[in-house]
Amino acid sequence: MTFSPASLAVTGGAGFIGSNFIHAFMANNPACRVVNLDSLTYAGNLKNLSALAGNPMYRFVKGDIGDAALVAEILAGEKIDAVVHFAAESHVDRSITGPEIFVRTNVLGSQVLLEESRKHWQSGAVPDFRFFQISTDEVYGSLGDTGYFTEETPLSPNSPYSASKAGADMLVRAYHETYGLPTLNTRCSNNYGPYHFPEKLIPLLIHNIINRKPLPVYGDGRNVRDWLHVLDHAQAIETILKEAVPGSVYNIGGNNEWKNIDIVNLVCDLLDGRLERDPGENRRLITFVKDRPGHDRRYAIDATRLKQDLGWVPSYTFESGISETIDWYLANQEWVNDVTSGSYREYYEIQYGGRQ
Ligand code: NAD
Ligand code: DAU
Repeated sequence: MTFSPASLAVTGGAGFIGSNFIHAFMANNPACRVVNLDSLTYAGNLKNLSALAGNPMYRFVKGDIGDAALVAEILAGEKIDAVVHFAAESHVDRSITGPEIFVRTNVLGSQVLLEESRKHWQSGAVPDFRFFQISTDEVYGSLGDTGYFTEETPLSPNSPYSASKAGADMLVRAYHETYGLPTLNTRCSNNYGPYHFPEKLIPLLIHNIINRKPLPVYGDGRNVRDWLHVLDHAQAIETILKEAVPGSVYNIGGNNEWKNIDIVNLVCDLLDGRLERDPGENRRLITFVKDRPGHDRRYAIDATRLKQDLGWVPSYTFESGISETIDWYLANQEWVNDVTSGSYREYYEIQYGGRQ
């Protein structure tokens, strides 16, 4: 039977995927209340959600997922039917230079959310409940030239980021097996689209090309990533939340593998046209730099289970998705400039005046 939450807690909803999910989910489910718990780290940007200001079905709470009392208050006070857990430290390079916060947020923070969710669910406050862990294909480690990650692939994370996400996935499994908590766990491939923080490859390329800055390509540029539009990811999450059996694990991906250097060349060429530059001009900005330590060679998702069980298929072609994304960044240079100047960090005070 379809699960129909009346009240959803989203963690990390001011980040890239969380904000896209909130917009899409609220548009599709206007009767469901959404509470967004986000501590507003460098990656959290309330400008992503400015269109929801004043919407009575939406509430923003500035706070940490590791704050058990706050989490308990939200779950009970809002009679939360489901937690969709995006909040994380998400950037692999940052995890290499500073792993501690990745363990604190991604492992310990997730455990606090799980524990408070368990108490809330066992209290009988809501008729049915879901804890939805948003995870990543990176927990599976790296592939060679062939093969795909399935849900049965053993977890073999290689970076502090992916190790911390795998740790959380293991806790989710344990809460389901030990306490029967109705959990869902998805592992998605690389997302792209609007509101993507410009430290990540695609928005970094667009930003640097516009500003004629070097385009750093790690190593030989032949590492492979499997790209999915963020709104296809959001739709997959909504489908799984409503239709999947508790305890399920699903991979999410759209069979869209690209070598990094091919993506770099593509974005350069598309922006040659958009910016009316000479053909090949942007490619001259490409700069090969020292490789990322432990750089996974290839990711490729087998999402057959999701297609077969729940009928989800991506709606974007990469051609249309990347074109729309480039156009979004060109039309939203103010958003990018706010991020790069740091002024987006004042938006909480401006919008909420220090109140929640
Ligand atoms: P992001 O870095 O853009 O956003 C993370 C959000 O979490 C931010 O708003 C931040 O303020 C918030 N946050 C961080 N620590 C917090 C804490 N302790 N308490 C409350 N809020 C906190 O990340 P993203 O790219 O949107 O990724 C979202 C989730 O999806 C992550 O769990 C990530 O592992 C997963 N994921 C990402 C991708 C991708 O391609 N970006 C792919 C697969 C899975
Ligand atoms: O696969 C899902 C993961 O995708 C998510 O779990 C992570 O949260 C998300 O950040 C992303 O991780 P990646 O490390 O794959 O993304 P990133 O954009 O950092 O890098 C994409 C590829 O491009 C990777 O092979 C490294 C390379 N790269 C990246 C940057 C920032 C470069 O060559 N140059 C760069 O400047």
